[in-house]
Amino acid sequence: MPTVLVTGGAGFIGSNFVRHLLTSDPAVSVINFDALTYAGNLANLTDLATHPRYTFIKGDITSRADVRSAMQRGVTDVINFAAESHVDRSIMDSGPFVRTNVLGTQVLLDAAREFNVKTYVQVSTDEVFGSLGPTGYFTEETPLHPNSPYSASKAGADLLVQAYQHTFGLPAVITRCSNNYGPYQFPEKIIPLFITNLLNNEPVPVYGDGQQVRDWIHVLDHCRGVEAAWRKGKSGEVYNFGGRCEMPNLALTKLLLRLLGKPESLIRYVADRPGHDRRYAIDCAKAERELGWSPQVSFDAGLRETIAWYQANAEWVSSIKTGAYRAYYQKQYGKL
Ligand code: NAD
Ligand code: TYD
Repeated sequence: MPTVLVTGGAGFIGSNFVRHLLTSDPAVSVINFDALTYAGNLANLTDLATHPRYTFIKGDITSRADVRSAMQRGVTDVINFAAESHVDRSIMDSGPFVRTNVLGTQVLLDAAREFNVKTYVQVSTDEVFGSLGPTGYFTEETPLHPNSPYSASKAGADLLVQAYQHTFGLPAVITRCSNNYGPYQFPEKIIPLFITNLLNNEPVPVYGDGQQVRDWIHVLDHCRGVEAAWRKGKSGEVYNFGGRCEMPNLALTKLLLRLLGKPESLIRYVADRPGHDRRYAIDCAKAERELGWSPQVSFDAGLRETIAWYQANAEWVSSIKTGAYRAYYQKQYGKL
């Protein structure tokens, strides 16, 4: 029976993945290993807190002692979601990005070797490919050309994973996914930020001309892709996942305004993000062909359901916006 160490399982995608795996496979146990940074929130997993095949360990992937002690619990596989994940924060201070994303991955890779894991999965991002012009797609063969400190740190981690696979024969796969949306996303990313602002009739900041294009995928489609890469992926391979749903930010903003019944006067054009990537778009034919995966959730249905989730979970949102969720963890776990 696999015991999977899911790092970053208290974050947005990690928590959706933990729930997906535990509810879809009765033969899997999950150890959620998470440092509970500002982005980690155990309220994302309250429904699973007493699940018999679920364990939470508060730990930091940059700490060899923390990681080794978790691995000693019979871990058979590692799926690494833990990361600093927000581009704007990486522009303000790249330190935590290099520390967690690069050094943390190195610590996990050493532990994966030491404990002879069956498969190591590195959850990466399409942002490592850099920016596209108006046409074309990222394939698995596209050269890495990261432009932000965030994407540079993710690319560095990917290169380490490939080096460990090549040099030491570590069984490892890398997944690279486009922009996710869905429930439990921290309201600093565009979709949850805009939904939660608009629900309060607050303005939404559109960077630059709003013509930057992102390829949106529902978080559960991403989770199914990571699971397929873990189960069926070939060691040494990269698999791209995308939603086949390209949209300029301004069009996305206007769609959100329409779905929420809010006026366009709430749009604020603000200074552009430095080094802002213009367009991302993923060719996911390899994952479709080799993993039998394809995106299932339409953007229209997924976005409506996501809006409904944020409406129904006003307490989750307000505890983040007021910072109350941090105070709770400080009490529970000491200084964070
Ligand atoms: P998130 O910021 O919501 O969650 C990150 C989680 O990692 C948090 O729970 C945090 O507490 C934990 N963490 C951070 N530093 C840690 C450390 N040193 N040790 C242990 N845990 C630590 O991020 P997300 O959006 O859920 O992204 C998860 C992964 O997916 C990341 O690796 C990210 O690069 C990748 N990814 C994200 C997207 C996206 O659209 N959000 C797209 C493609 C890939
Ligand atoms: P984001 O959600 O930060 O994801 P990423 O930078 O990883 O793609 O941003 C998505 C797009 O939305 C990106 O082009 C930047 C833009 N954006 C805004 O225009 N306003 C905002 O307030 C935010 C957070 C993002």
